[in-house]
Amino acid sequence: MSEKVDLYDSAYANYASEVYRQVRIETYGEDLGQTSWVTTEESNEIPKMLNLSGDSFVLEIGCGSGGYALFLAETAGCRIVGVDINAPGVHNANQLALARGLASQVRFEQCDASKSLHFDDNIFNAVFSNDVLCHLPGRPAVLGEIFRVLKPAGRVLFSDALVIGGLISHEEIATRSSIGFYVYSPPGENERIMGQVGFREIRATDTTENAAHVAKRWHDAREKRKADLIAAEGEASFDGLQRFLSCVHAMCGEGRLRRYLYSATKPL
Ligand SMILES: C[S@@+](CC[C@H](N)C(=O)[O-])C[C@H]1O[C@@H](n2cnc3c(N)ncnc32)[C@H](O)[C@@H]1O
Repeated sequence: MSEKVDLYDSAYANYASEVYRQVRIETYGEDLGQTSWVTTEESNEIPKMLNLSGDSFVLEIGCGSGGYALFLAETAGCRIVGVDINAPGVHNANQLALARGLASQVRFEQCDASKSLHFDDNIFNAVFSNDVLCHLPGRPAVLGEIFRVLKPAGRVLFSDALVIGGLISHEEIATRSSIGFYVYSPPGENERIMGQVGFREIRATDTTENAAHVAKRWHDAREKRKADLIAAEGEASFDGLQRFLSCVHAMCGEGRLRRYLYSATKPL
């Protein structure tokens, strides 16, 4: 088995460090504090896919260091609550909200999103989650909770980069899982569970190729700054993350692991 590799603690604790900022800009083209496979094109599509307006109240599950929620609040004018299990991520997100004068519009809370959400029924116009649900056990319950907190006609959008697309060895599964807890799903399973919990107008868009490109750019941007990154996160973490990113690039590039973006509506 691969050793456990830290991604999120070092990414969020070192959020403000110039070398991490440069890696994000070189990987994604813009810095929203990303630790995912979301391209800039996808970031720009999300508000349209969720029908966001200035009146929308939105939940982001797995907000990380908050950059994308703050971008949405600034561009769409909506109110947002972001939740994440990672304490440095949530701390950083709340600091950024304060610094940008958005604390009355956006707030961030630390919580384990695999447990029942502490929000009332039918309160959000939209719920989204970028590359997070794969970390949560109990997907039917998680999607059931999202359905519960959405208003009728509300929209959900989430991505899953762990849909099995072909033959994968146990070493590859171990390297791909070295970051933490992960759930792999067979093709069609997310759509089936979404339908089962009550969602309608279910759509899946294949974004595997984009994930392969992001993984390669992220790997190469880190490799160029190896000495600085080893000083910040240690050699074992640096090497482990590079192996993880190479593994994502190879498996997505060959289509053996696929990433989909799912969207659906809660019926009236
Ligand atoms: C791939 S990152 C994505 C972060 C952000 N959405 C982005 O696009 O950059 C996955 C995020 O899920 C969070 N996460 C993992 N397990 C979680 C859980 N049980 N509850 C809430 N958040 C969790 C991690 O802390 C991390 O911030």
